[in-house]
Amino acid sequence: MTVPTDPRHLPVLVEPFLAHGFPPDGRIFVDGTFGLGGHTRALLARHPGIRQVIGLDRDGEILEWSRREPLDPRITLVHERFSRLPEVLDRLGVSTVDGILLDLGVSSYQLGEPERGFAFSRPGPLDMRMDRSLGGETAADLVNTRPEGDLVRLFGELGEERFSRRIARAIARRRESAPFATTADLAAVVEGAVPAALRATSRVHPATRVFQALRIAVNDELGELEATLSAAIGRLAPHGRLAVISFHSLEDRLVKTAFAAAARGCRCPPQFPVCTCGQRPLLEILTRKPVVADDAEIVANPRARSAKLRAARRLAPGESRP
Ligand SMILES: C[S@@+](CC[C@H](N)C(=O)[O-])C[C@H]1O[C@@H](n2cnc3c(N)ncnc32)[C@H](O)[C@@H]1O
Repeated sequence: MTVPTDPRHLPVLVEPFLAHGFPPDGRIFVDGTFGLGGHTRALLARHPGIRQVIGLDRDGEILEWSRREPLDPRITLVHERFSRLPEVLDRLGVSTVDGILLDLGVSSYQLGEPERGFAFSRPGPLDMRMDRSLGGETAADLVNTRPEGDLVRLFGELGEERFSRRIARAIARRRESAPFATTADLAAVVEGAVPAALRATSRVHPATRVFQALRIAVNDELGELEATLSAAIGRLAPHGRLAVISFHSLEDRLVKTAFAAAARGCRCPPQFPVCTCGQRPLLEILTRKPVVADDAEIVANPRARSAKLRAARRLAPGESRP
């Protein structure tokens, strides 16, 4: 069966998600990053027996877009961060669910809206907040006020940018005369700071990693994920699945670590001869290695290049790990 997709955002790793992300007889699904609903649409087409989908997104504007077309009546959209999943489920009177998906990062829809400030390729205000309704620091606030040393760390850690020192230096110099206000402004300064030889040969725009780092920091994306994983595992019904699609090595590491801890159960120090904590394994890991996109998907959707999917299954009480 072909699944209709939205030309504003092509969902990534849909087939691996369908293979691992939901039990065949599941009834309730949480799409923690609903966006334009690509994964949900595919799941509903594959599992017509689904009774309820709870779709969360912290970006109210994207949910408005999703509501412009008639929604499947089984879907309830909630403007909320996925770290608030337990509160959302409690409010809806749902104790456990059969599947949860977190498809991290931003959608192509957000990247394509210049006034959101996510894309260096589209001039706009340097904003990058996924939820503008809450106020909070923008990317411009960050680059205009953070000490140079903080920017070096930020670009290095969250952007894996090897010229983070040179770029932070150029930003600090430039903001002495005029604060940054636009995406184009920042992109030009970053471009000017990296070695000319790299500018000529790099496959991606020199500002790509700096923009990624700022977006992750502005939205505290790693903090959000870390606060969510064990709560999400805790709300899975027996045999329920948690699937996470990440785009950054730090995100993938958080997922791998949380899955491994929940699959291990016992938290006793390794030198203890017998287990005294009594913690039982909660998960079976379904993807020993993260699933990545094949060449055909990467050609059709370059955003899939860095996507990694990990999935796990909640064990039933008394069930031991296979
Ligand atoms: C990659 S897109 C998801 C695309 C979606 N799977 C689809 O097929 O249309 C990521 C979405 O997650 C949202 N998002 C990111 N972090 C979030 C968080 N902590 N809580 C809720 N939504 C979040 C973004 O606003 C964006 O709409």
